[in-house]
Amino acid sequence: MALHRRSFVVAAGAAAAAFGQTGQARIATAMIGVGNRGSQVMSGVLQQPNAAVAAICDIKADRLDAAASAAAKDQPKTYKDWRAVIDRKDIEAVFIATPPHLHAEMAVAALQAGKHVYCEKPVGVTAAQVREVVKAAKASKKVFMAGQQLRSFTQLQEAVAKIRGGVIGNLLMVKAQRHAGSDLSHTGSSADWYFDVDKSGGYLIEQSVHNLDACNWVIGAHPVKASGFGGTQLYKNDPPGRNIYDCNVLTFDYPNGVKLSFTLNVFHPSGMPLGGQYIHVFGSQGAVDLMYSTNMYKLNGKEPPVVLAEKREEAPHGHTTAFYDCITKGSANPADITVGATAALTAILGHTAMTKQSVVSWSELGVSL
Ligand SMILES: NC(=O)c1ccc[n+]([C@@H]2O[C@H](COP(=O)([O-])OP(=O)(O)OC[C@H]3O[C@@H](n4cnc5c(N)ncnc54)[C@H](O)[C@@H]3O)[C@@H](O)[C@H]2O)c1
Repeated sequence: MALHRRSFVVAAGAAAAAFGQTGQARIATAMIGVGNRGSQVMSGVLQQPNAAVAAICDIKADRLDAAASAAAKDQPKTYKDWRAVIDRKDIEAVFIATPPHLHAEMAVAALQAGKHVYCEKPVGVTAAQVREVVKAAKASKKVFMAGQQLRSFTQLQEAVAKIRGGVIGNLLMVKAQRHAGSDLSHTGSSADWYFDVDKSGGYLIEQSVHNLDACNWVIGAHPVKASGFGGTQLYKNDPPGRNIYDCNVLTFDYPNGVKLSFTLNVFHPSGMPLGGQYIHVFGSQGAVDLMYSTNMYKLNGKEPPVVLAEKREEAPHGHTTAFYDCITKGSANPADITVGATAALTAILGHTAMTKQSVVSWSELGVSL
């Protein structure tokens, strides 16, 4: 059958989009949710030589249009219904950057349809959601990567490897925090879901999942128990209907005896010392400031601090590149389902302890990893 000129142009355009300048086939990729994070991650996908943005989905027309313009070189089709994207047989990889309560259903459907999945953190906001993703990821032969991008930071990888190799002796305790000087914007990009605990999980599950993941990583385990208290201390019913805490004070106990103390608030004045985020790791022979300097301080207090891993410019889309390397080269996955689920469950454990006001055990979450 002869091709009409218009269909030839479309076919040639689609072929160019699918093969790119190198002539190599590119992995047809769909973006579901292109708000703040999804559009950032998409810019990383567009830079990958082995990927093409073939589909973009969002329920908001303005975001869909903006993302389609940004990805114009790949000629993506746009969708409002995410299920139509999953139904497309040619789509090989799916990025999910929708609000957290939607991740599990979308990730499970994509995995069951045989797609590789990059799912933003947290994997889920309840243990039941995480359990479903774990089951689907384990049943699938495709790549599942969680958006825990700290795992792709090479400076942290080097420092964590040295700590786990024994550079400060046996680990004893970690003290970590995530403090901010103000609440998340009440009118910003994600204000329509963030302040509803059923949609975001609150600050601990939505944001501190990164910090808790780094704690698990350096300790080399997940906690067995958590206890703690939380509350809405400053932003009471602000914005109206808010049901997420603005203050968390938590303690986690790990199987190897390590204790983690973690605090979170959004009313730490910016000029005041000890603000922001840190992870201080204490061992039998010294301690490390893991998040900023990676400086190691010997316990004898006589030696100047030693830098465990030099500060460097991390590749801006290193985690996205790692995802495609897993697909095309079979590279090791830095944030597989075990990492992603463990991070989310650690935050869910802390959240459950605060809401029940009791000590909660990991086994009560009922998820086997
Ligand atoms: N890894 C990181 O460092 C990082 C940073 C920021 C956000 N995130 C995560 O990314 C996700 C999105 O956060 P955000 O800040 O981009 O929020 P956002 O509100 O800016 O974007 C979410 C987008 O999802 C769309 N959406 C909602 N329901 C949808 C549906 N049913 N189908 C398709 N699209 C739908 C919304 O319209 C919106 O455009 C969250 O899980 C968040 O935790 C990760």
